[in-house]
Amino acid sequence: MYYRLGLIGHPVKQSLSPWIHSEFLKRSHLKGQYDLIDVHPEEALENVLHHLQHEGYHGFNVTVPYKEKIMNYLDIVDEHAHRVGAVNTVARRGGKWIGYNTDGIGYVRALEEKYPKFFLGAEKNVLLIGAGGAARGIYASLLTKPLQRIDLANRTLQHAENIKIMNETSIQTDILSLERARELCSTYDLIIQTTVVGMNPHENEMIMSFPVLRKEQIVSDIVYQPIMTKFLRDAKSKGAQIHLGHSMLLHQAQVAFEIWTDQLVELEKMDHQLEDILKGR
Ligand code: ATR
Repeated sequence: MYYRLGLIGHPVKQSLSPWIHSEFLKRSHLKGQYDLIDVHPEEALENVLHHLQHEGYHGFNVTVPYKEKIMNYLDIVDEHAHRVGAVNTVARRGGKWIGYNTDGIGYVRALEEKYPKFFLGAEKNVLLIGAGGAARGIYASLLTKPLQRIDLANRTLQHAENIKIMNETSIQTDILSLERARELCSTYDLIIQTTVVGMNPHENEMIMSFPVLRKEQIVSDIVYQPIMTKFLRDAKSKGAQIHLGHSMLLHQAQVAFEIWTDQLVELEKMDHQLEDILKGR
């Protein structure tokens, strides 16, 4: 068996996925390749899918700007991806294209790997900052966990309201302005920053600064370029524990690889290797 895998998006040339999945193939003793497939916005996705089918692809990842649009061309979209409203992983099974979303699950796995007891014991309070696609995926996955509260803070409150609609659980969610979230920040066990604010080349920006934090609190940023964002530096300086963004990237890829190959690949040392690659950029 030779696995043909890849990534469709525009642009894709900066992607770290070829490195990650080639390493996964090696570690799983599987043969295959992972290609970058730059799809120009004027190309019809239907034709791209026919091409991938013809070429014998087993699956592919989907990135900006096709995560939502691709859903119209798949045979099946799994329930979680449907709830999130976006697909980042597609697998060919039984002659059908099936769509999944591994972002939120990847975030939760990354968190559990670093903090195995986080979801055990007393039910925790989480603050999710942002209301874009990444926030939707993480919110949907966190709703499957025994939490007390997941508040949503965003610049545009209506966008956060649109995400809250998917909550059919007993977990409480308040919608907060960024200012209000800042005032309440010390009341959360976990704070997750999901917006693009602070991403290279805007490294000197942060969505908010923290007035005060406790040392038990965990602060996550899903931005991984730069690896140490201004937001995380601020959290660290206030004494909180920090969780770096590239671990979500690795874990969402691990979930995708498992969907394609049924292999749960061991991530040992890849975290540090990826950190070195990112620091060298
Ligand atoms: P993604 O799919 O990567 O999550 P997105 O859907 O474009 O990205 O969402 C971007 C998120 O970043 C949103 O929460 C957006 O806030 P709005 O909903 O108010 O637009 C947030 N965002 C982007 N630039 C921002 C800025 N300069 N200040 C505050 N929030 C910002």
